[in-house]
Amino acid sequence: MSTTLAFDVYGTLIDTHGVVSVLREMIGDEAEGFSQSWRDKQLEYSFRRGLMRDYKSFAVCTANALDYTCALYQADISQEQKQALLAAYRTLPAFEEVEGALTELSGNHCRLFAFSNGTAEAVERLLVNAGIRKYFEGIVSVDEIQSFKPDPAVYRHFLQRTGASDSDAWLVSSNPFDVIGAINSGMRAAWVKRSTIAIFDPWGIEPTLIVESLTELYAGIGA
Ligand code: 2OP
Repeated sequence: MSTTLAFDVYGTLIDTHGVVSVLREMIGDEAEGFSQSWRDKQLEYSFRRGLMRDYKSFAVCTANALDYTCALYQADISQEQKQALLAAYRTLPAFEEVEGALTELSGNHCRLFAFSNGTAEAVERLLVNAGIRKYFEGIVSVDEIQSFKPDPAVYRHFLQRTGASDSDAWLVSSNPFDVIGAINSGMRAAWVKRSTIAIFDPWGIEPTLIVESLTELYAGIGA
């Protein structure tokens, strides 16, 4: 029985702070804080839209969150600069260790899928641009059921789309809300704790596995 891995994309495979260098040219030293606020608001908007049953694509959440963050920071960013930032968001880099880890996993009979809030089209473009599309058997997007993580329905959708079962599938994510959501829905989940100061939500639900890098994943899941 092969192991099926659902890789979260933004923040797990792809470094969302890749836009910081573009931001730094526009707003200088506030770029790091701006990028984090933008990411936090982007996710908040996805959660709110899920609860409201008022689905719009993750790209809409990203663009709306950018507008909010510009107002929050009173940043003098033009429409053209916003388009440049959103374009940068569509071509973010992969984390350094990702390709090596995916090579090891795919060479050991694991089925690899990208599993994201992003639309299949957006994720396809990201993975192609980052040079890692070839490692994935497919892309599963929450867009297909018009909801967002951590709705239990999106994890069930992943299993249904891939034909995997709870017992042979793992979610792999750096986002604690995603890890908790997957475990809550019955899947196993590996938390990619890239930063030593990253905090896992104190909900009493623990990751099935914690790794500091995707290179630890194959040994950790015992595929
Ligand atoms: C994703 O790629 C939200 O970052 C998360 O689905």
